[in-house]
Amino acid sequence: MTRTKPILMAAAFAALLAGGAASIAASPAETIAARQANFKKMGGAMKALKDELGGGADKAKLLAAARTLAVTARMQGGLFPAGTGPSSGVKTDALPAIWAQKPVFDAAAGKLVAEADKLAGLAGSGNTAAVLAQFKVVGGTCAACHRQFRAED
Ligand code: HEC
Repeated sequence: MTRTKPILMAAAFAALLAGGAASIAASPAETIAARQANFKKMGGAMKALKDELGGGADKAKLLAAARTLAVTARMQGGLFPAGTGPSSGVKTDALPAIWAQKPVFDAAAGKLVAEADKLAGLAGSGNTAAVLAQFKVVGGTCAACHRQFRAED
């Protein structure tokens, strides 16, 4: 458990930076680009986890991908300030429902952080079945938010 502490602190710091940057300096275009880049990174980490779980299940690789996911997930909540939806004129798949139901969206973002933290806690354990089960839970939180808050393309 102590091993996850530095990740959580680094993640909290990153979230602070992301939130600060979004509220002080970034334009809607920059904020949207930042969150999309983070989501892509999370997609890459999920793919790495899937490949590893279906193959060698290398502990170091699982841990690295899970940590990327946990740190990146933390940044996302702060990257949806008002004015960064489709009405900004910037191309985004973020639906207006995000701002109409901000507490619901924030809860979904918080759930991802919690489940990704659990995955990061398990990833180096060598218990592949447990890692796989939690990987599926994380995947479910991605899908649930997308169904509700992301435009289909
Ligand atoms: C709290 C809601 C939420 C959660 C949880 C969530 N997403 Fe998303 N995701 C979105 C929204 C909203 C967009 C559209 C962002 C935009 O276009 O501005 C998006 C976009 C994406 C994209 C496309 C990025 C691009 O434009 O190229 C990918 C890939 C993605 N998400 C992967 C994931 C993965 C993988 C997870 C889980 C590990 C995840 N998302 C969890 C809301 C969420």
